[in-house]
Amino acid sequence: MTIGTSLATVAYLGATILFILCLGGLSNQETSRRGNAYGIVGMAIAVLATVFGTQVTPAGWPWIGGAMAVGAVIGLYAARIVQMTQMPELVALMHSLVGLAAVLVGYANFVDPAVAATMTPAEKGIHEIEMYVGVLIGAITFSGSLIAFGKLSGKIGGKPMLLPGRHWINLAGLVIVIVFGWRFVAVHDAGAATTAMIVMTIVALLFGIHMVMAIGGADMPVVVSMLNSYSGWAAAATGFMLSNDLLIVVGALVGSSGAILSYIMCTAMNRRFLAVIAGGFGTDSSAAAKGGTAAAPAGEVHPITAPETAELLKEAKDVIIVPGYGMAVAQAQHTVYEITKALREGGTKVRFAIHPVAGRMPGHMNVLLAEAKVPYDIVFEMDEINPDFPAADVAMVIGANDIVNPAAQDDPTSPIAGMPVLEVWKAKHSIVMKRSMASGYAGVDNPLFYKDNNRMLFGDAKKMLDEVLAALKA
Ligand code: TAP
Repeated sequence: MTIGTSLATVAYLGATILFILCLGGLSNQETSRRGNAYGIVGMAIAVLATVFGTQVTPAGWPWIGGAMAVGAVIGLYAARIVQMTQMPELVALMHSLVGLAAVLVGYANFVDPAVAATMTPAEKGIHEIEMYVGVLIGAITFSGSLIAFGKLSGKIGGKPMLLPGRHWINLAGLVIVIVFGWRFVAVHDAGAATTAMIVMTIVALLFGIHMVMAIGGADMPVVVSMLNSYSGWAAAATGFMLSNDLLIVVGALVGSSGAILSYIMCTAMNRRFLAVIAGGFGTDSSAAAKGGTAAAPAGEVHPITAPETAELLKEAKDVIIVPGYGMAVAQAQHTVYEITKALREGGTKVRFAIHPVAGRMPGHMNVLLAEAKVPYDIVFEMDEINPDFPAADVAMVIGANDIVNPAAQDDPTSPIAGMPVLEVWKAKHSIVMKRSMASGYAGVDNPLFYKDNNRMLFGDAKKMLDEVLAALKA
């Protein structure tokens, strides 16, 4: 049973509206579940309308069904085994698949003579541009996302690879792509077109690798959101090649929302977008550039025990909790909430401070806190809560490092100089919970650890918080 063009159009329109509602819902924690549900329904409608639409003949159904079954098994398996801390690298891997799909669709269109057979010369020209641009964006997304996957999973070091004359290398790549693009469209020769397509693909793949390799650890959030945007544009390009309006709209939605997210990330980190993309921004003299290992000692640290931490918390009237990547690693969010409940029952004001790039993916900490059922009204963004630190009795930092580093404000030579941070050192006491003196993702020393009003609670965050909770309840 195939559905007619009008019904397919109506279904696509409905799916488009659902995707827009989905994005709207995902922009707020309280509506995000509903947004997710809209997205699922929209995607189901989109898939059904495409499979049973006029572009697919019944002979194609078994192939599509088989491919979907294989994809579903791999997807379900990956979703079941992936740890929360591995989510960012999984997302990067998925972006790479969108890029690969665009490349494969581009090549399939290119080698299939039936595609262009019914086109007028003008349409053919446009279609050639679609293929060329689609493969270009797809190849950059594919290789860039694979390198991002490697960096986020620690398989490739966070240290930026800064080739001499790297901007010239990028410029040369751009010139090659433009020249061969012109040949691809203007020269009507199969051999020349094939050469142009292959050369461009290789250059695009190398550019994707080079672009992400040159980016320093602290700037990875921008890369993650930027590749998200690229994957949207790659999907839109695929939509053009397949003449699928829904794919064009959805790709544009993902592409533009990813671009907005990249902009927000840049603002949050006080970076210029182009400077990050050009790579190696602010990393030349950094610890990250030298290997991103443990920080050099810069004074004396004051350790604290879990029972002493509980005492400090008991005496406090106003507590601000700052979660970071270590809380995700330790899966300590549930214990954090138990402690929060215990303190609130005792009349203490407890709030959470969320840095926009805390963890390893946008919204990472919000997801963890929501999972632990922390009420949304005590979770605050950095700009909202930063002015409140001086009035706080205790700022409790759980597995965070770069996002609470005062060097971002005090040391202009620091690789994270200028990045807005949570000013925990302004509280009467700060307590940093982590396992060692190791540096964070950016590989930068953190002077907070040596401040007089700071205490270090060394150990796994979950284990330490369990001990703090036990002492609080004792
Ligand atoms: P980080 O600076 O990476 O610091 C996390 C700290 O957690 C580490 O210093 C580590 O110290 C500690 N830790 C690890 N496992 C722990 C455990 N089981 N128990 C207790 N502590 C543990 O994290 P952050 O402060 O959240 O900053 C995020 C960083 O990631 C920024 O540099 C940001 O630019 C980057 N980044 C963010 C994103 C996004 S989109 N959010 C994407 C890519 C990169 P020990 O080893 O001593 O325990």
